[in-house]
Amino acid sequence: MAANIKISELSSNKAQSTDNSPSSSPPNFRRDILFRQYPLLIFGSLIGVVLSAIIITPLLINTNGTSSLNIKIETLDRATNMTPGKASIGSVNSKCHQLTFAPYTTYSTLERPYSISTGDVNGDNITDLIIGYNSWTFKITIYYGDGSGTFSTQSSIVSDLIPIAVAVADLNNDNIKDIAVAHFDYFGSVAVYLGPIYENIYVPRTLSVGDRPYSVIIGDFDHDYNADIIVANTFDSTISILWGYGNGTFTAQNTVNTLNGPISLVAADFNNDDYLDFVIANFHSSRISVYFTHGSGVFPTIKSFLTRSTPRSIAIGDFNNDEYIDIVVVNYINHTMSVLLNTGNDNFQSQMVYSTGELPMSVAVADLNGDTYLDIIVPSNRYSYFSIFLGYGNGYFGTELIFNTDLWPASITVDDFNNDNRIDIAVVNEGDDTLNIFLNTC
Ligand SMILES: *[C@@H]1O[C@H](CO)[C@@H](O)[C@H](O)[C@H]1NC(C)=O
Ligand SMILES: *[C@@H]1O[C@H](CO)[C@@H](O)[C@H](O)[C@H]1NC(C)=O
Ligand SMILES: *[C@@H]1O[C@H](CO)[C@@H](O)[C@H](O)[C@H]1NC(C)=O
Repeated sequence: MAANIKISELSSNKAQSTDNSPSSSPPNFRRDILFRQYPLLIFGSLIGVVLSAIIITPLLINTNGTSSLNIKIETLDRATNMTPGKASIGSVNSKCHQLTFAPYTTYSTLERPYSISTGDVNGDNITDLIIGYNSWTFKITIYYGDGSGTFSTQSSIVSDLIPIAVAVADLNNDNIKDIAVAHFDYFGSVAVYLGPIYENIYVPRTLSVGDRPYSVIIGDFDHDYNADIIVANTFDSTISILWGYGNGTFTAQNTVNTLNGPISLVAADFNNDDYLDFVIANFHSSRISVYFTHGSGVFPTIKSFLTRSTPRSIAIGDFNNDEYIDIVVVNYINHTMSVLLNTGNDNFQSQMVYSTGELPMSVAVADLNGDTYLDIIVPSNRYSYFSIFLGYGNGYFGTELIFNTDLWPASITVDDFNNDNRIDIAVVNEGDDTLNIFLNTC
């Protein structure tokens, strides 16, 4: 089925240095939608502030030191090729003068697109886009890339309930990308689709997880060379770990308590020991928790680090060129992002905070202007733009640049969609039910 394409003029396709004010006037009904969408999260956030002071902190976490969970999480040595996060994605062309994008292209989506992932899921060696939804679509959609920046064929894959988040990686060791989809429900579940994936009808294997999962990652976390799945269950404050057998099947969930409101997960090797670690953003606890692993049979070291309130989404990359992967987390209701630099000894420096657009609920990292330094991209879910903060390569970031999108950009991802060695941007907008593609012309 051909995607419904319209070309929209990008009104600010030249980078501008601006203050925080968006270039389009804000929809004044946004607040109602916000509360319709997040009543429990926001209510929980108020409770969480109280609870975390009284209960959560002493029980679960020692924020200054370490605490061990009573679960065996071994580690892996495939950190590099099993890392879903893009630790060092960047252009190879030389530095350009001014960051510019071609007028963006628009594709229609199903209702309320909420998450977007990249990966070649049909085995043609070209990056595809996989979209999850925060509505009763019972489907995810795949936009198959053609290598020129156009996504011509759209496939709807039957899923279940609210298919809110998607992870893409090889789950059965056949070198073909597979998909894991988290279903947002009181009885949460994960569906596994084994690739190559072309067809409209597909009956997945489904595995139970916890209450209202919001995020899913894939990685070899027990060092057995088989991909595992971890899901963040936001409403019951647990993660579910599903150990992989290497053939596309998994154990039943192992449930581990977290801080309050785990909502975003990213895997990476944070201490350069070749074992895959992971980090959780805890929406109601104003903290991220980093799960460091130390080799086979070793219990993880868990450390939590302060963010601002309502940390919502995480991206990673080496921001200061010290060979250690750093963290950026956007704080949703706080309208900020926190940059935490990795000191390399299973520790992070205190957050450095930057203002972002309002209601940031996604963040991506890439070298967009070819200077070899990683930049940060943050959409404003309240308005219709994303911000780019150019990196200086020393852990600091420059003034916010604004680029218009369709309404309420929810999730953003980066890759080179047209093979010109420049990193492009894809963003889904839950206000207009659209996907916007920004090809980098810098
Ligand atoms: C994709 O790339 C792999 C490795 O380079 C190659 O073996 C395979 O033939 C390619 N597949 C297609 C469809 O081009
Ligand atoms: C997958 O591997 C497990 C463990 O070896 C085995 O018990 C199971 O039968 C396998 N399942 C399939 C579908 O191959
Ligand atoms: C942002 O977070 C900080 C620390 O958690 C808090 O003191 C401040 O009031 C928050 N601001 C907003 C606008 O939520």
